[in-house]
Amino acid sequence: MAVFTGCGKDQPYAPQENPQEDSQEEAQTQVKDAKVLVAFFSFTGTTKSAATKLAGLTDGTLYLIEPETPYGSENSNYYDKSTRAYQEQYGPASVRPAIKKTLKDADGYDIVLLGFPIWYGKAPRVVFSFLDSYSFKGKTVVPFITSGSTGISSAASELKSAYHDISWKTGDRLNDKSTEQLKSWLESLGIKVK
Ligand SMILES: Cc1cc2nc3c(=O)[nH]c(=O)nc-3n(C[C@H](O)[C@H](O)[C@H](O)COP(=O)(O)O)c2cc1C
Repeated sequence: MAVFTGCGKDQPYAPQENPQEDSQEEAQTQVKDAKVLVAFFSFTGTTKSAATKLAGLTDGTLYLIEPETPYGSENSNYYDKSTRAYQEQYGPASVRPAIKKTLKDADGYDIVLLGFPIWYGKAPRVVFSFLDSYSFKGKTVVPFITSGSTGISSAASELKSAYHDISWKTGDRLNDKSTEQLKSWLESLGIKVK
């Protein structure tokens, strides 16, 4: 499989010899018996697969962040600068693609596991649309990603600085994690696992 790293304007992302799994350094708090929302965006299904496993393990509510206008298959060609994905990711940070606002009782969750694929080193803009659409002020939100190889730290930092009033916890890249590894990760976050 191709191995990718972070990106610049002219070369979205380039091959890298030793992709690193990076993570944020943050204090961990216990969130036992919490009501869990697993909200995710997925373009080609990889993040959906991880999100579905997490919802099963936590008895959480699985919620798809769905753009009003779906991303066409041409967006898979990530070296094409004319695609919607490229234009959004390299456009102004204020870009917020419209999403379907179908989440019920967003306030009723104690912890949100927030999943997305890395797009050009960062979270897709629809993830920001989701966070803008509901108030997670004071809630615990844990980002998780899937990617070709890029780690989570740059995407997580951008989210953290855009939404200061959320209690962000350490995220992770979940590609190819076994069920046991997912369980350990959830337990390290203080989340009760089935
Ligand atoms: C538009 C676009 C940009 C991408 N940018 C990156 C990137 O910067 N780094 C990376 O490792 N993978 C990148 N990828 C690969 C995806 O992050 C990876 O395939 C992910 O697991 C797809 O998740 P999904 O199936 O849930 O959409 C990109 C994919 C697309 C379509």
